[in-house]
Amino acid sequence: MSLDPFLVSRLAAHGQEHLLRFWKDLDEPARERLLADVRSIDFGELECLVAALVRDDETSVPDAERVAPIDVFGLPRTDAERVERRRAAEAGAALLAAGEVGVVLVAGGSGTRLGFDGPKGTYPIGPVTAASLFQIHAEKIVALGRRHGKPLPLYVMTSPENHEATVRFFDEHHRFGLSHVRFFVQGQVPAVDRATGKVLLAEKGRVALSPDGHGGTLTALAAPAPDGGPSCLDEMRARGVRTLFYFQVDNPLVKIADPAFLGLHRLANAEMSFKVVEKVTPEEKVGVVVRVDGKPQVIEYSDLFPKLAELAEKRAPEGNLELWAGSIAIHVLERSFIERLLGAHALPFHRAVKKVPYVDESGKKVEPTAPNAVKFERFIFDALPLAQRWTLVETDRAVEFEPLKNATGPDSPATVRQRMSDLFAGWLERAGASVARRPDGSVPFGIEISPLFALDAAELRDKLEPGRVVDGPLYLGPDEMLLPR
Ligand code: UD1
Repeated sequence: MSLDPFLVSRLAAHGQEHLLRFWKDLDEPARERLLADVRSIDFGELECLVAALVRDDETSVPDAERVAPIDVFGLPRTDAERVERRRAAEAGAALLAAGEVGVVLVAGGSGTRLGFDGPKGTYPIGPVTAASLFQIHAEKIVALGRRHGKPLPLYVMTSPENHEATVRFFDEHHRFGLSHVRFFVQGQVPAVDRATGKVLLAEKGRVALSPDGHGGTLTALAAPAPDGGPSCLDEMRARGVRTLFYFQVDNPLVKIADPAFLGLHRLANAEMSFKVVEKVTPEEKVGVVVRVDGKPQVIEYSDLFPKLAELAEKRAPEGNLELWAGSIAIHVLERSFIERLLGAHALPFHRAVKKVPYVDESGKKVEPTAPNAVKFERFIFDALPLAQRWTLVETDRAVEFEPLKNATGPDSPATVRQRMSDLFAGWLERAGASVARRPDGSVPFGIEISPLFALDAAELRDKLEPGRVVDGPLYLGPDEMLLPR
């Protein structure tokens, strides 16, 4: 295979001709792979990104005077608020029964902090059965479909790195009984050298590409299927899906397609909605939803410090943080909103300075010991300022947010399993059971309730005889099975 002179001069024009430096060392298949990598790059866009985010380190963090707290539908506290929430839940249930809701699960991340070899969704997290995150999510979707009489389609975003392993896992588990699941692959962008802005080679014949962030969901949903078939969005349109429930793979507590959330979103005629929790500390690693110049926006946790430290730490007289609305990456988006954005607005890229292994000029592989590269990522929450109408809905972290991010410490398998057991213990107690607890209120053994047995506390109450004593590990599965004590 000979080199296309047009490609060579295009690379030279963008100062990236080194990508073909090892061309003569490569065999034919390697040359083809390299060309595919190179052709996937939009060099014009990359040049702008390097100019703005590598050379200039342009920051989009606003000055503190422009930032203000934002209104949120708080947890219902009065009777009137409870009635309003019930009405919203009815409206949301009607959308589910009408088949207007689709579910989008983003699972393209590389999960480096967890240090787990495999897609994060395959992580065995169930406190008793070691059910995977994917199984827990899928069972909720199956259960919801049964409850509302209409199966919900699931769209799973993967990355080129984990796509095959993800699809294989679902296939091995007979797709967990889901009636429709479709996998779609997100895009990639090259990592560049932090000092020079040159694209890094991961191998002599491979560009160092990495996923383009969960903001890439929007373009990936619009991309045609690999066989040229309809895009996910086209398919949704054909199925009558108008509203998308979006969530991240790492949080097994998520109330997928929560009817009250869907209802509040639809009753407000919103284009995009967020679930938020009250941030406990200014440093907590969740993005914060605020107003910037009056418009809603998420400021990522890593952007709060140092520039906005004073504001992030400011507390109201009652002691709670002024900027308290922590985004837990649970959203509802109208399909029409995504379609509108695709035509008119690209989400901005953010920079992430990372350690990226690369091949140096002599062809030697280098494992950097300090961050040497800039990666570019888009974030889905940057769609919020573009929405004409939006809603923010507070939820209680104890029942809806415990993400799996780290191998140990906070947000780790230990904390997630404990939170799941504690949550299920609460459901059992509300159903009239008595559950052994430690003096601090936590449960000293694993409890796991399959969504196929009960999707929530109310369903459990309907199924369980009161008076049950739970003093050892308990699993309630689709056919209710007690594990030996
Ligand atoms: C994310 C949010 C943060 C939020 C927190 C809640 C960002 C930048 N920040 O933080 O505001 O409070 O979750 O838990 O997202 N993913 C992809 N493709 C990618 C990158 C990520 O699909 O290219 C998926 C991952 O599989 C995962 C999710 O997005 O499901 C979150 O990614 P992660 O990098 O773990 O975000 P956090 O920094 O934890």
